[in-house]
Amino acid sequence: MNTTLSFIKLASEIRVKAYAPYSRHRVGACLVTQDDHIFLGVNVENCSFPLGVCAERVAIYKAVSEGYLKFKKLVLVTGNEEISAPCGGCRQVIREFAPDLEIIVANPKNLYKTFFLKDLLPHAFSPESYLKGQDPSS
Ligand code: THU
Repeated sequence: MNTTLSFIKLASEIRVKAYAPYSRHRVGACLVTQDDHIFLGVNVENCSFPLGVCAERVAIYKAVSEGYLKFKKLVLVTGNEEISAPCGGCRQVIREFAPDLEIIVANPKNLYKTFFLKDLLPHAFSPESYLKGQDPSS
């Protein structure tokens, strides 16, 4: 099995743990760090809808909270026949840590498509933009 397929398998296996009783849209994520550690995530919804969090963010926050800040690949599996790329909020969170991230999105039949964050979020607001916009302290 090639590495992409093995990451798809991990994302697909974790996807069953998604807590998505409201949308019933389950997402599994497999995040690969620059030094080949793997963090898995699922979407976790809440009866207070805005508090739900996407699978991508769960995986990223798990990694960051364990001290891993550099990522090379994010693999997602959704229940969609049609490949669906990460939501806008997740694109911004990914941008914070991995502007060049390769993102692979697979459907339940293991068909997948590769994206790059740069193409999904051009002209992004970045940590550099934030610093450049700060007023000098007085
Ligand atoms: N969701 C993700 O986990 N990742 C995305 O990129 C898009 C949406 C989740 C959020 C919510 O729990 C459900 O899918 C429906 O929007």
